[in-house]
Amino acid sequence: LASIEFDLTKVAEGQQVVVKWRGKPVFVRYRTPAEIQAARSVSMGELKDPQTDADRVKDGRDQYLVVVGSCTHLGCVPTFGTGDYGGWFCPCHGSHYDTSGRIRKGPAPLNLEVPEYEYLSDTRVRIG
Ligand code: FES
Repeated sequence: LASIEFDLTKVAEGQQVVVKWRGKPVFVRYRTPAEIQAARSVSMGELKDPQTDADRVKDGRDQYLVVVGSCTHLGCVPTFGTGDYGGWFCPCHGSHYDTSGRIRKGPAPLNLEVPEYEYLSDTRVRIG
């Protein structure tokens, strides 16, 4: 399938749901206010792959982060809510991602990829 639809009511605040898209896992994360704040308070100089949190979410929908669940090092699936930055941790070689899915520490060169997606309504997104 080229694109999939996802119902955002299926993900609880502070959690993520993993959906399959083009054979890859996609993480749909409903961030807490503290997680959003953490992502927004980072200065660009601290980032290996500088991107603002605002660039990684849709306007007015800061709570939902959608990223491809494939470590940008060698493609392992990072684990949710772990690592030094509370985002994800890749156990294969120790890459730490923050609550915006940005690489913060370890061998991965790039942030978790934000796939193409759009809101169809307040509660539905189409990925791809
Ligand atoms: Fe994730 Fe190597 S594949 S750190």
